[in-house]
Amino acid sequence: MNAETRIRNDLGAYWMPFTANRQFKDNPRMIASAEGMYYTTTDGRRVMDGTAGLWCVNAGHRAPRITEAVQRQVEELDYAPAFQMGHPKAFELASRLADLAPGKLNHVFFTNSGSESVETALKIALAYHKARGEAGRTRLIGRDKGYHGVNFGGISVGGMVNNRRAFGTLLGGVDHLPHTHDIARNGFTRGQPAHGAELADDLERMVALHGAETIAAVIVEPMAGSAGVILPPKGYLQKLREITRRHGILLIFDEVITAYGRLGRAFGADYYGVEPDMITTAKGLTNGVIPMGAVLASEAIHDAFMTGPDHMIELFHGYTYSGNPMACAAALATLDTYREEALFERAASLEDYWAEALFSLKDKPGVIDIRAVGLVGAVELEPFADQPTKRAFDTYLRAWDKGVHLRTTGDTIAMSPPLIIEKSEIDQLVGTLGAALDA
Ligand SMILES: Cc1ncc(COP(=O)(O)O)c(C=O)c1O
Repeated sequence: MNAETRIRNDLGAYWMPFTANRQFKDNPRMIASAEGMYYTTTDGRRVMDGTAGLWCVNAGHRAPRITEAVQRQVEELDYAPAFQMGHPKAFELASRLADLAPGKLNHVFFTNSGSESVETALKIALAYHKARGEAGRTRLIGRDKGYHGVNFGGISVGGMVNNRRAFGTLLGGVDHLPHTHDIARNGFTRGQPAHGAELADDLERMVALHGAETIAAVIVEPMAGSAGVILPPKGYLQKLREITRRHGILLIFDEVITAYGRLGRAFGADYYGVEPDMITTAKGLTNGVIPMGAVLASEAIHDAFMTGPDHMIELFHGYTYSGNPMACAAALATLDTYREEALFERAASLEDYWAEALFSLKDKPGVIDIRAVGLVGAVELEPFADQPTKRAFDTYLRAWDKGVHLRTTGDTIAMSPPLIIEKSEIDQLVGTLGAALDA
């Protein structure tokens, strides 16, 4: 790189993730600062954050307790090794999460992202069965349209076609349940879809095909966010729980999106009343401020590892930044913020208003379905002929120009505002989307 290029600070060097790099760099959307519900762009425009960043800024931007906690922490303990060593805040955070978690999910393994939480949970599942003398249980079952991050385990059990295609043969011994997206039967349903619980029965077919003694775990998102907000049909998750339990298969809920209040409860497991054996989380754990993930595992899983000689490492897994002090400080302050500002309750109290507002878009041009749960919403559009994804992305760009940031996945517009959103801001967000659809 020559001096002239460096001085120009062109946009070329940064290979942006999950971005149409060339299109973006022709017309960049740059954020300079953020506060509460709003971003300010580098050209001074105020834009509402209709997606809580990437589903993570649940308490709104620059929530004061979190900012202060991170500032204090960097002055006190910037880093501490995570292997054979500890610092108090990691233990405090694990205890707080265990208290928050449903039922017997009492143990917490720290990671740095949702993708790492997924890899961790899959590895724990395999090692758990081995520790109990069932080493033959090596199969992992995901679901079509599932999103479990971008690492090899996650894309193997995941079912987002474009995220898998370019990356070779992936993990062996993986199978996929059918997805539950069914507009023909469930289109424009308010609340949980009525049809599709029977799709969980496909797990029985896999058990018959492979033998239960070869299956380690099933991983699903209780509400599939990244595929376009696909809600579980009534009774579906309960069925998965019943079948997995009956066959000794672990059930993992990937709650990287649904944990920490997104559905108006601490976890999607609480919202849907189904207790899995593990929950993977990240995102809202630190309000997006410092990267961090956490896997919540049941007492039974944890205890199965605590058997050999005391001096032996029980699980050969971990990250340099597992339980990093800065991340722990951010997470503790985030949990305080959620509690003190009653943000989960707030999300629950806004759920009906939010759904009502979204369903007002029913007759807008191109709308073929609307889905809502907690403070998550989706408007699915009829794709343009031969130009899949373009209609939604054009709509997204129009909304951005009008001052609201949304998100698209395929031809679905997805929304997940910070839980601090006011009713008037819901009106503004949905009104802007409506205008963008009209245009
Ligand atoms: C359900 C689910 N799992 C895993 C991930 C991956 O998380 P990360 O991007 O932090 O690796 C995501 C991200 O959106 C997700 O929605």
